[in-house]
Amino acid sequence: MKKRIFSGAQPTGELHIGNYLGALKNWVALQDEYESFFCIVNLHAVTLPQKPEVLKQKSLDLARIYLASGINPEKSTVFIQSDVSEHAELAWILSCVARMGELERMTQFKDKGKGNAERAGVGLFTYPILMAADILLYQTDLVPVGQDQKQHLELTRDLATRFNRDFGETFVVPEPFIPPIGANILSLQEPTKKMSKSDENANGSIFLLDDADTITKKFKKAVTDSGTEITFDESRPAIKNLLTIYQLMTGKTAEECEANFVGKGYGHFKTETAEAVIEFLKPFQQRVKDYSDEDLREILKTGAAKARAIARETLTDVYAKMGIVGAAN
Ligand code: AMP
Ligand code: TRP
Repeated sequence: MKKRIFSGAQPTGELHIGNYLGALKNWVALQDEYESFFCIVNLHAVTLPQKPEVLKQKSLDLARIYLASGINPEKSTVFIQSDVSEHAELAWILSCVARMGELERMTQFKDKGKGNAERAGVGLFTYPILMAADILLYQTDLVPVGQDQKQHLELTRDLATRFNRDFGETFVVPEPFIPPIGANILSLQEPTKKMSKSDENANGSIFLLDDADTITKKFKKAVTDSGTEITFDESRPAIKNLLTIYQLMTGKTAEECEANFVGKGYGHFKTETAEAVIEFLKPFQQRVKDYSDEDLREILKTGAAKARAIARETLTDVYAKMGIVGAAN
């Protein structure tokens, strides 16, 4: 039996190269070895206000991006979270297992809630519980995500362990898979912060659908560190970040990357990095156009049916263990 992976992204904003390098690229690499589930988490998206028409379109567009990235729907199950209502059901159960204190420690809530808990939506607070439900429903072994999700994975493991202890072995306790390189791609404008979909400064992020001109301009404007050397040096995060992007886009080793830029200036370095990204994105952007909305809906329907069968099995077990039985039983 193959081990399972589960991961997801929110259908909000524009996907950027951080999402690709930190998450999607690894999903694609792992899908042969693992039985894979890739979800479009639209229920997570509404933890912040969304325009209904936009959310609807973005959900399909994200499926398109998954496939263009190389996710093969013949091998992997691709589906939309709201098509499998078991996610919301298990989230309720887990919200009775989770503790206020552990959610209060989640740094993403502090960031997204802008430090104002009084005004923040309750869903934003309980968001990691829904994420735990996503993962645990599929008896997931491994969860490939970027660095920013590590804390949510730890909570998921704690909830699974606690449930198993209180009600008997029910859930597989999942492991995070955080890539050694690329798990935290930084903003090109503020290289102390991660590259983010919700950044007000669009120059900080390279979006997967940016055209060549835009990409060149954004790299030209990228902030650098003082000094002249182009090396992977922790103390010079801006240069290290650009070099990491260059490395992952070209598939070179760290040594080859550093050697490539010996004696060259930042201007040249930025141009070459922009070119590597443009080169990489060209076929990707072409593939995005290959899928019609109809094709995608078919794939998502098939995916939801496969996902639902497994999710229902887990939820039935959870309810039985807890003594939650309806009139028919
Ligand atoms: P999201 O856009 O929040 O739905 O994230 C989708 C996936 O991309 C998650 O696995 C994140 O951890 C990952 N991710 C988001 N931003 C970055 C980044 N700047 N660098 C690396 N991975 C990221
Ligand atoms: N919280 C994740 C993010 O913002 C998205 C997500 C939701 C997820 N459910 C998940 C990721 C389950 C991995 C597994 O990026």
